[in-house]
Amino acid sequence: MQIIRIPRIMQDTAKGYSLRGKSTGFVPTMGALHEGHMSLVRRAKQENDISVVSIFVNPIQFGPSEDFQKYPRDMEGDAEKLRREGVDILFMPDIAAMYPEGFVTYVEVGEISGKLCGAFRPGHFRGVATVVAKLFNIMKPVRAYFGQKDFQQTVVISKMVKDLAMDIDVVTCPTIRERDGLAMSSRNAYLNEGHREASAVIYRCLREASDLIKSGIIEIQAVKKAMHEELLGEPAVSGIDYAGIYDPETLNEPSEIKEAILLAVAVRIGDTRLIDNIVINVKKER
Ligand code: PAF
Repeated sequence: MQIIRIPRIMQDTAKGYSLRGKSTGFVPTMGALHEGHMSLVRRAKQENDISVVSIFVNPIQFGPSEDFQKYPRDMEGDAEKLRREGVDILFMPDIAAMYPEGFVTYVEVGEISGKLCGAFRPGHFRGVATVVAKLFNIMKPVRAYFGQKDFQQTVVISKMVKDLAMDIDVVTCPTIRERDGLAMSSRNAYLNEGHREASAVIYRCLREASDLIKSGIIEIQAVKKAMHEELLGEPAVSGIDYAGIYDPETLNEPSEIKEAILLAVAVRIGDTRLIDNIVINVKKER
């Protein structure tokens, strides 16, 4: 596995592959790699000639009171996991290489960036869209792989790709879960034993909401109330940013449940903010 740290060298290497007709599958990450990331890596390897993974903890997607400084970092462990998986290139730029002095260009993906997580993390998706656009320009991938756990991120990036006519397939891969249903996330490392156990409530809440809908309860506020009650029944839940039913394209709360819907949750367990979601096709499920 080749490790590249300089954007210009990464860009020339990627250009070389592209000129030789080789397809690049790209997995952008912030490291602290877990099975969720590795599932994206395997898919990128299967579907492309060359696999590239980036590890970059992107400062501009963290708010001033968020966890940028303490975000889990394990560069050596991550590199070893990727080497074992047979990844071709690991791109690990530093902050000054990605945002040199004088950097002033940002990508804003309109309305949807302000919904759900965006309402609680102002500027977050501007930071995500900007770094992903820059990484896409460096890597020129044919396909880029993202996990469904960060559902809004996949919507924002797909919209950016469409609006800016970027010639890239955004591939959304299923959420990988622990045995009790907790979605894998680098932030799970923050949870102590009690909070780790308590966090199973998130997926339980999503599944119960899905069961209610499948059983014929289609009153949005009733399902939402049941979700909040389930979450608040767990004493370790210290706050709910949102929990409810949304349109998977617009991320708005629909006026009625019709076809595909997004059930999504963002909660705090102790000091840790966790998100999860499932998409259900109501017509098919009934
Ligand atoms: O999902 C993440 O890890 C990050 O938001 C991403 C896409 C790597 C951009 O920094």
